[in-house]
Amino acid sequence: MDARALNWHNGCKGDTSRNEFIIPKTIDVLLDLARGNIGFFGCATGYIPSQVSLSLNKNYNLHLVDLDEVYLAFAKEQKYHQCGVTFKVRDITHEPTKRSFLNAIVISNTLLEIELTSESAQNICDYLKERGKLIIFTPDVLTDVVREDRKNNKDLLSEFSVGAVSLENKIDRFTRLPYPFYAHRTLYLISSFLNVGLKLETIEFGGAGNQYIMLVFVK
Ligand SMILES: C[S@@+](CC[C@H](N)C(=O)[O-])C[C@H]1O[C@@H](n2cnc3c(N)ncnc32)[C@H](O)[C@@H]1O
Repeated sequence: MDARALNWHNGCKGDTSRNEFIIPKTIDVLLDLARGNIGFFGCATGYIPSQVSLSLNKNYNLHLVDLDEVYLAFAKEQKYHQCGVTFKVRDITHEPTKRSFLNAIVISNTLLEIELTSESAQNICDYLKERGKLIIFTPDVLTDVVREDRKNNKDLLSEFSVGAVSLENKIDRFTRLPYPFYAHRTLYLISSFLNVGLKLETIEFGGAGNQYIMLVFVK
């Protein structure tokens, strides 16, 4: 078993924000739909979809997508209760090969690794059916930017204030490995998806220290 994947998975298992906020909130939104094709974009080792599946029935098909083949191989070994499940190694920012087929897309923490542009927002949106939902969970990254800003001679805060900024070599707290980190201002995330025609339905705060934001958009 791959050590990096196992460390990531164990980190997720012990994470209060995932267990007490992200997973229950995702279940609420998906139960409201009653059925459907659900994309978990940037699913990593499958911890969130596997836990969510325990509250869903066979009327749901889960489509797990990640760039990382090793993480996805680990996800294949998990259980998804009664749900149908598919796995795909793919970059979610690229044009979809199949359009308008998902009833919902869940993106948790993954926008931290993506430079969100109008093109990538459009490509993500193109996967959704009409009335489909985009559910985003992301931490509030302002404190990270302030911390980095003090160490750097670049004015990261002013870059952040107009959209997004890349923070170099941020260490992942589960794997202890560096990863690409994009701090998107929440209003920038919202405007990016409003600009491709989605409507914002919900904003909620939660997780440890209320540091997580849930955004639900509808197409
Ligand atoms: C921080 S992890 C979040 C995993 C999971 N959603 C969670 O909240 O526990 C981000 C995941 O997104 C994947 N990822 C990053 N950029 C991606 C892209 N452009 N397309 C698909 N997956 C991507 C990474 O490989 C990684 O597994």
